[in-house]
Amino acid sequence: MAPAIGICDSGSGGLTVLGACGRALPGQAFVYLGDHAKAPYGGRPEAEILELSIHLVEQLFEKGIRLVLLACNTSSAIALRRIQEQWLPKNYPGRRVLGVLVPIVEALTGLDWDRDNPGLSTYPNKNVAVFATQRTVDSGAYAHQVRLRAPGFQVVQQPCPGLVSAIEEDRGEAILSDLVQEFCQKLKKQMAGKKLDAVLLGCTHYPLVEKFFSEALPSGVEILSQPEIVAKSLKNYLQRHPEFADDSNGTLEFFTTGDPARLAHLEQFMPGQALDFKPL
Ligand code: DGL
Repeated sequence: MAPAIGICDSGSGGLTVLGACGRALPGQAFVYLGDHAKAPYGGRPEAEILELSIHLVEQLFEKGIRLVLLACNTSSAIALRRIQEQWLPKNYPGRRVLGVLVPIVEALTGLDWDRDNPGLSTYPNKNVAVFATQRTVDSGAYAHQVRLRAPGFQVVQQPCPGLVSAIEEDRGEAILSDLVQEFCQKLKKQMAGKKLDAVLLGCTHYPLVEKFFSEALPSGVEILSQPEIVAKSLKNYLQRHPEFADDSNGTLEFFTTGDPARLAHLEQFMPGQALDFKPL
């Protein structure tokens, strides 16, 4: 039987992905690791994000885990490719690391991921907005990968500095709502009157403030659910790679690089789930 699947993030945002994965794969065991001591990642230099992401994966591998899902857009955009192509084959051949960017690009374009032959989407052209951390926006990863497959799509990126910290620190609905309003106003300016069709909350923390995005965005705009899309993609991956699946008891374990006593407010991230974080 394969060991549990590891899911990690800079902090608590990846819990939104874990929740969806748990619903999609009820028998699967998962181990969650949040790098609360180092969150947020989104304003850090690239080299540091790579180093921190590798460290997170390695800490999960040291627990015997063989498949890790980097449930962090910033790490997926900045570090994942180098982890998969350079670090993994050299250090842990046979183990796997997946991210959260590929499933979204597949969902938006309707194309299965093929890096060498990306293909051309047959979906009708759309105007898509991506809200993300500064570093994810700077990487241009979503815009580049979508436009490569769907050249007629407009992808507008809006950074949301400070939003991850405000969510991690649970600063209260009024502050969170104001911040989201501010970023939606900035997006509106960028759109310059163009119609918005779909929005990606391209940071795993942002689903927690989705209701504020819904309120602030024009009605009728589709908000893609990254956690659900990623969970569906993981399920599909495990069907193709059953050697990584552990369909036994569905146990969940939670670890943090930070202080577990400071994580008592996290029920909102996985409603109905006792989040008993242990120190690493
Ligand atoms: N949840 C991470 C993401 O998806 C947050 C990054 C951060 O720590 O700033 O990008």
